[in-house]
Amino acid sequence: MATWEKHPASTIWNQHTHLIMALSSYLSSLEKDLSLDVAVLQQIATAFEKAMVDGLAGKTSSLKMLPSFIGIPTGKEKGAVIAVDFGGSNVRVIDAQLDGASKVEIKQMKRFPLVDPKGAYNYVNQDARAEELFGFIAQEIGSFARPGVSYSLGHTFSFPCEQTGINQARLIHWTKEFKTQGVEGKDIALLLDTALAAKNVTNVKGTAVINDTVGTQLAAAYTHQNVDIASICGTGHNTCYLQPAHPLTGKPMIVNMESGNFDGAPQSRFDVALDQASDSPGSQRLEKMISGYYLGEVFRRILGDMSTLGLLPKADKLTQKHVLTGYNLDRILADMGELPETAAVLGECLGWTTLTLEQRKAVQTVMTLVARRSARLVASTFCGTIHFVDAGLTRSHAIAIDGSLYEKMPQYAVWLQAALDELLPQAAGRVTTLLAKDGSGIGAAIAAATAAASST
Ligand code: BGC
Repeated sequence: MATWEKHPASTIWNQHTHLIMALSSYLSSLEKDLSLDVAVLQQIATAFEKAMVDGLAGKTSSLKMLPSFIGIPTGKEKGAVIAVDFGGSNVRVIDAQLDGASKVEIKQMKRFPLVDPKGAYNYVNQDARAEELFGFIAQEIGSFARPGVSYSLGHTFSFPCEQTGINQARLIHWTKEFKTQGVEGKDIALLLDTALAAKNVTNVKGTAVINDTVGTQLAAAYTHQNVDIASICGTGHNTCYLQPAHPLTGKPMIVNMESGNFDGAPQSRFDVALDQASDSPGSQRLEKMISGYYLGEVFRRILGDMSTLGLLPKADKLTQKHVLTGYNLDRILADMGELPETAAVLGECLGWTTLTLEQRKAVQTVMTLVARRSARLVASTFCGTIHFVDAGLTRSHAIAIDGSLYEKMPQYAVWLQAALDELLPQAAGRVTTLLAKDGSGIGAAIAAATAAASST
């Protein structure tokens, strides 16, 4: 009789102990790769600041430092506006009235998907063309605008655009895996104007195109003081800041850094593999380590590695992109005790139904490491930005943030603030973050009214 047959219970116990030890050693090594200590964060902040200086001076830099041609609003902006918020696969349109006293009254709002859930259309894949995409948006605006009202239109277009004026914005390249043909290299304001004319929408006049970070900063300026940085920590990631005297105009101007493209953060082997397998290897390297679109993918790749090593079971679904959605990542992060939600998510998404508590704990630890790294990386870029605008930390800085990670991901905002405090102990309490929910829509409304006023 074989030894294991004589002592089945002890063999199972041995296997169990072996698995626990193997999981623990895997997690220690992963932690080394993903948990960035304050010295590393400091180096990233310094590299980020250097990239800002270089980008602004027109030198080679991974930060595009794009001018927005708009500064901080006065609060006196007035009029009827339509704001279009286009940054993901849902577009939002807002019909608003600005009263000239920092108040934006929303008359109506609607959302529509660019990808039909039933599969009837998809305006963001490689088969779609610019005329179809903008034609669809123009048609929705036309059926939404109240007849008889003359509107200025502000368009938040959340992709990297080269601006030569508040209403001239050429798309440099798509991000977030958008693929519609005929938009890269084109002027977005012109594409939408042409589409509005083709759909005979005559009471809506495009006056401004802005990035969503810029919109967030404009909106936050209506309600808070000292906001000199704004960021999106959601599906995509990016940060802008107020340059007190912009080299182009000598006046205050918000600069869209396109910080998702920053290339100075240390990549793990999972980040390298994810980048290589993406539509745009080499670009948006920081975004691929930080943003909601990619966090589930970093997580999936690590689980895949653990499965290959026998630390977790096999699962065909592990090869399926975006099988772990943001909502499910949040469920894992918020889980407690015996980790029932983690068990449910892994059962629903990957078909794993027999995980031990140790395995569930290991999965939760992996997700925590991935999410916390994202928050800490964001903090290091904020620190670089603050040092650039106010090296002596002579004043308070409020950072307005929108996006699902900051708003909803368990612990994300806490990790972010903790890393800021670690990085800037001398400024404790003077560098704060605030949620600027839906700022990009309100910001587009403010930008439209600002631009309309300056063109009359
Ligand atoms: C885009 C930025 C945008 C960010 C957040 C990135 O992918 O390049 O322009 O601000 O997503 O939406």
